[in-house]
Amino acid sequence: MDWYSQESFCKDLPSVPNPEIGIVLVSGATRYIGGRLVPELIGRGYNVRVMVRSYFLEYEERWPDAKIIVADALKVSELKKALKGVSVAYYLIHSLLLGKKEFEQSDLQAVTNFRYIAEEQNLKRIIYLGALGNVETRLSDHLRSRINVAKILEQGKVPTTILQAAIIIGSGSASFEILENIVRNAPLYIIPPWANTLCQPISIRDVIKYLVGVLENSETTGKAFDIGGSDVLSYKDMIKIFARLLRKYRPFIPSPFSGINLYSYIISLITPVPAQVVSCLMEGVKNDVVVKEFEIKKHIEFQPIRFKVALLRALSREEHDKIATRWSDAYPPAHELAIKLAELNDPPKFISSYSLTTGKDAGALFRSYCQIGGKNGWFQNNWMWRLRGMIDRIFMGVGTSRGRRSATSLRVNDVLDFWRVEELIQDQKLLLRAEMRLPGKAWLEFNIENEGQENRLRVIAYFKPEGLPGFLYWYNFLPFHYFIFKNLLKQLCKRS
Ligand SMILES: NC(=O)c1ccc[n+]([C@@H]2O[C@H](COP(=O)([O-])OP(=O)(O)OC[C@H]3O[C@@H](n4cnc5c(N)ncnc54)[C@H](OP(=O)(O)O)[C@@H]3O)[C@@H](O)[C@H]2O)c1
Repeated sequence: MDWYSQESFCKDLPSVPNPEIGIVLVSGATRYIGGRLVPELIGRGYNVRVMVRSYFLEYEERWPDAKIIVADALKVSELKKALKGVSVAYYLIHSLLLGKKEFEQSDLQAVTNFRYIAEEQNLKRIIYLGALGNVETRLSDHLRSRINVAKILEQGKVPTTILQAAIIIGSGSASFEILENIVRNAPLYIIPPWANTLCQPISIRDVIKYLVGVLENSETTGKAFDIGGSDVLSYKDMIKIFARLLRKYRPFIPSPFSGINLYSYIISLITPVPAQVVSCLMEGVKNDVVVKEFEIKKHIEFQPIRFKVALLRALSREEHDKIATRWSDAYPPAHELAIKLAELNDPPKFISSYSLTTGKDAGALFRSYCQIGGKNGWFQNNWMWRLRGMIDRIFMGVGTSRGRRSATSLRVNDVLDFWRVEELIQDQKLLLRAEMRLPGKAWLEFNIENEGQENRLRVIAYFKPEGLPGFLYWYNFLPFHYFIFKNLLKQLCKRS
């Protein structure tokens, strides 16, 4: 997908671009919101510096007109380099993927470092997108942490603009995919008491407009604003509207039981979003998240779109395979699931390799194996992959339901069912790293080797076992490899 072909969200924004402002840094650019914001800023002529924690060549292709800088907000020396010469910084850093136990501490440390280095480097402004929530009520850990981040920035010397939003609706957003999959997959809609909590969802396009709008309006400096869409709805209302749109006429069954943990677990089984993320987000459903003041309208005047329209736009982007960024885009580098095959101290103990020769050309073979997974399936023995995914989901793993960001294109770090793309070399190699629950670490490689007139298509499974369960797992699955991979190779050739 061409990143700049993404329809501009800001074309009807009433403010005027102001590229003279100097360098604009976007932190958290690798994910959902940051990934959508960067092309908008570049499109409006800004000098954009993108801050990422690890460098991938693919980022050059994604942001050819931006400068990419590698920095971890937990490392002061890296932050100093990243913020040097910056005029305005977007603070979109969040560590939710670290899970409940760790994210709060990590978020506080990251924002504290950011605030002090921003002061030291004399930044003119920080713009932060946080969460809506009434501080006088008992907030979930997630909402409280987002609000604490805002407080730390507000106490700093660099003037900060804070935008506070409830759930964001757009293709690729975790909240949207949770809602969509509940509506599509639940046989009936169980309505616990908290389903009547009020929320003011906002579309991704309106969030981006506000983020760009405050940059272009200096009067918003040093102020905090609530932002929201045009509808205040209960979660029950949202499901009703979505169900009507998808023509899923299923019964709504009230339930007196409100235990969030159980609901989070069940929801994680029927949605692509992992249980840890579902439960962090769902803890917030007991808190009303509604716009309390409308000050932003005085500065950035436009009518946010309605919930139903936001759903239609997100569904249409999904249908047209145009999801630019997705919640699943990458694990933090320090995450144990981010360890790469080439980075292992000891090579994997077990390797099984299968191949066949074919007259098909390398480009066609490469395209063929780059289509696997997601809605396309695994071409052969699909039920086996699905069963493996279901078992993984039951054990709180990611399963296969995450699918793919795009049915036709792949890029490094993309999720592919329970795998993640680790390496992609055009017309040569695709290396996938396993993210399902396993007694060890696993990789799956597809590669093509030229042998004169023919090409050898190879699939290789690597496994690094952990203890006895790892050994038993490998030997248990080894006989299946033969059937699965031999058939898969034949299918890949046939389809190329
Ligand atoms: N998504 C929503 O529905 C929603 C709703 C309301 C408000 N918001 C707010 O919008 C902001 C962005 O949300 P999002 O969903 O786009 O992001 P996200 O998925 O939470 O990703 C956060 C980003 O922070 C980066 N990050 C984490 N720790 C870091 C560190 N120590 N140093 C440098 N970078 C670090 C991550 O980089 P890596 O890729 O390297 O991990 C990632 O790019 C957050 O503040 C969130 O609270 C989001």
